Amino acid sequence: MTKIILITHQKGGVGKSTLAFLLAQNISSNAKVAVLDMDVQGSLSQLKDLVTDFDIIPYQDTIEKIKDLEYDFIFIVTPPYLSNHLSKLMQLADLILIPTKAGFLDLLAIESTINLIKSESKIGQAMVVFNMIKVNTTLTIDILIGLEEYNIKIANTHISDLVSITRSVLEKGIKSNKNAQRQLDNLTKEVLTALV
Ligand SMILES: Nc1ncnc2c1ncn2[C@@H]1O[C@H](COP(=O)(O)OP(=O)(O)OP(=O)(O)O)[C@@H](O)[C@H]1O
Ligand SMILES: [Mg+2]
Repeated sequence: MTKIILITHQKGGVGKSTLAFLLAQNISSNAKVAVLDMDVQGSLSQLKDLVTDFDIIPYQDTIEKIKDLEYDFIFIVTPPYLSNHLSKLMQLADLILIPTKAGFLDLLAIESTINLIKSESKIGQAMVVFNMIKVNTTLTIDILIGLEEYNIKIANTHISDLVSITRSVLEKGIKSNKNAQRQLDNLTKEVLTALV
């Protein structure tokens, strides 16, 4: 059974592509994995020929065919805007990840994405992932309270703002940075657990 993980947020630059790459890379040692880049200008698609551990599939118009692709895990990355594909993609997904930074404005920006997930009745399969958290800071309580009203799951693992993560796509992973790898392993576990 193929598991489909949708990584989405209408806001740009929150780490959708980066987290898709890293999670796919991390899982690929034990499973057959693809990343489907629904961003027409998608940067991941440009890495297609460089990446060997998993497949990168460029933009596809035929969403119905996605579930027939023969993989254990398919990560679908969306562009940073609303598209009429988004509802269909949410319906396909076993899990929806919403990466976000932890600023107050970032929290305001998440509302439209969460509302769409709600209107698709998928809130129970969605999880917010805090990304680019400054090292040695904790999330402020107002951010967490702000999210609470949405009744959406929040990943226990927070991903730090780390240079090794910025470089990870180029260097095909973060193995050399123990802290980054530990965070990624924890997030991978949470994702796999949420898929069971
Ligand atoms: N945890 C992190 N630490 C440091 N840099 C990060 C981290 N996560 C993402 N970045 C960097 O932030 C930038 C934006 O990330 P990314 O392109 O993955 O976001 P995106 O949500 O896919 O953006 P878009 O919506 O424009 O496609 C990139 O330069 C990436 O390397
Ligand atoms: Mg992207």
